[in-house]
Amino acid sequence: MLKMKRNILAYFLLLIIFVHCEKILKCKKVEKPNIVIIMADDMGSFDASYRGSNEFLTPNIDALAYNGIILDRFYTPPVCTPSRASVMTGKYPHTIGMQNFVVRAVEAYALGNDQTLMSDYFKQAGYSTHLIGKWHLGFYEKKFTPTYRGFDTFFGYYNGFIDYFNRTHYSFNTPGYDFRRNKEVTYENFGEYATTLFTNEAVKLIKNKNDEPLFMMVNHLAPHTANNYELMQAPQEEIDKFKHIEDPNRRILAAMISKLDDGIGQIVEALEDANILDNTIILFYSDNGGKFTGRFNNYGSNFPLRGQKNSPWEGAVRNLAFIFSPLIGNSQRIYDGYMYTADVLPTLASAAGIKIGDVEGYDMWNAIINKKISPRSEVIPSFDNISGHSSIILDKWKFVNGTTFDGIYDGYLGIIPEYNLDPNEYANRVSSSIAGKALENYGKTLSNGKILNLRRNAMIDCNEKQIPLTLCEPLKSPCLFDIHRDPCERENLSSMFPDVVAKLQQRMLEIVESAAPVRRTFVDDPLSNPALYNNTWVSYRDYSEI
Ligand SMILES: *[C@@H]1O[C@H](CO)[C@@H](O)[C@H](O)[C@H]1NC(C)=O
Ligand SMILES: *[C@@H]1O[C@H](CO)[C@@H](O)[C@H](O)[C@H]1NC(C)=O
Ligand SMILES: *[C@@H]1O[C@H](CO)[C@@H](O)[C@H](O)[C@H]1NC(C)=O
Ligand SMILES: *[C@@H]1O[C@H](CO)[C@@H](O)[C@H](O)[C@H]1NC(C)=O
Ligand SMILES: *[C@@H]1O[C@H](CO)[C@@H](O)[C@H](O)[C@H]1NC(C)=O
Repeated sequence: MLKMKRNILAYFLLLIIFVHCEKILKCKKVEKPNIVIIMADDMGSFDASYRGSNEFLTPNIDALAYNGIILDRFYTPPVCTPSRASVMTGKYPHTIGMQNFVVRAVEAYALGNDQTLMSDYFKQAGYSTHLIGKWHLGFYEKKFTPTYRGFDTFFGYYNGFIDYFNRTHYSFNTPGYDFRRNKEVTYENFGEYATTLFTNEAVKLIKNKNDEPLFMMVNHLAPHTANNYELMQAPQEEIDKFKHIEDPNRRILAAMISKLDDGIGQIVEALEDANILDNTIILFYSDNGGKFTGRFNNYGSNFPLRGQKNSPWEGAVRNLAFIFSPLIGNSQRIYDGYMYTADVLPTLASAAGIKIGDVEGYDMWNAIINKKISPRSEVIPSFDNISGHSSIILDKWKFVNGTTFDGIYDGYLGIIPEYNLDPNEYANRVSSSIAGKALENYGKTLSNGKILNLRRNAMIDCNEKQIPLTLCEPLKSPCLFDIHRDPCERENLSSMFPDVVAKLQQRMLEIVESAAPVRRTFVDDPLSNPALYNNTWVSYRDYSEI
């Protein structure tokens, strides 16, 4: 009896020690990996040179991509707000009411407060959490803004875009200043180019990192457009580096992306200087495709994919992405399983050993690092019954129903001239980039041959000779493509595979039924007017001076 009591006591003690292990004894000092997510805004899938273009190079992005794992079939929603809602929640935009269009400055809605965000999970797990750059998930009340939603710090803007120099966001013709440090409006370093500002902030946070693991999202403005009066903005000396590009808009785009690319190199270098690169996971991706034509077009190219931002086509939803980490042993390769923005949260949480609640995304960590088949066979890249389009991917099939703007975004846009560049010179530029050099310290070196081989394999081949371009009128009836054989959505097979069409239609109807009503209000709130608040966009429904 006494022995049993003693045993129970011993068990109790063990339990206490186990539960408080880290606090009392520091016995389980397993360091959690730092997470750095770098998000480009509207960057076309042909506008990183690892996809094969020589028009302008992105040597830092390419160095990380080749040394990491290129996520070849990474899907996102077709526009900003749904894409960001999905990555932050691990869910589809249509199940959380965020499927239609984007948060306009004057419209009082936001990503629901009932959602636990990626930043919340990492914060709860002891991370120091930072958002740099764009939010775009709503701000009409304070409780919807980043520092109330899991981020320790915020340095950036609430809306979809701002002027790269004076930080003004125009909602149609209404201007307002849109820049904050945490909760307060800030004018610090006013006039500095936004991309430089965000890079410098990221580097500073890395330098000042404390004992807590780092969770940092760098949601760049680049290469999204600025306001209507001057869509394309970059420092003149950067633009001057691209005199060989004839199209003046593509020349500025090159400069915008070049600054972004350089900043990514600086972030990698800072991680290396701080001796934490070896325990860091970097995810780079673009929130959606580039926009070659239409409103707020940044002249981005998704060539040779079909369509562009804000459409159901691959050019909108199959985007640039890679994961890089010295923690991943067998990298320097391409992963071709499906991954979707909603998978980011469960995947990174898994890498960090963090338990999360219910999400719709898949934990892809094991599949990616151990070269396993993707757990995801279905992707719903677009579902927006208000804009009137939806698409669904199941295995090799893609079903497209409806489209946007009467089909003016449906073609092959952003076809740019070919530029010659000696392949070895290309590979040398990649290896000698800031990121390329920082990686050398980790024994990550790639021969020119390997670089060029990876680059060839990362190019998208439309198989034009084998695959005819056929008629598809998704506004009349749905189209069907075999996107493994036909990644460019050339050949509509809907009448040849009626059983597949019927199956996907059935699935689509289930999705329609499970969709949440949109959170949008569709009305302009007069209280939002920046003129009421020193020409600044503020949380207008619960505004206070301090
Ligand atoms: C911002 O700069 C642009 C010129 O680049 C100018 O047209 C606009 O008036 C400026 N906005 C404010 C609020 O200063
Ligand atoms: C292609 O799509 C249209 C509707 O968009 C459909 O009517 C037609 O039958 C399809 N053609 C083939 C060959 O499947
Ligand atoms: C296709 O889109 C139309 C228009 O939005 C809709 O009425 C129809 O139900 C959709 N069909 C399927 C199978 O999703
Ligand atoms: C779109 O779908 C949602 C959710 O199923 C529904 O509430 C709404 O009425 C639909 N809107 C239109 C225009 O079909
Ligand atoms: C109002 O905005 C101007 C810049 O436009 C700024 O210099 C000033 O500090 C702001 N005033 C207050 C009270 O925030």
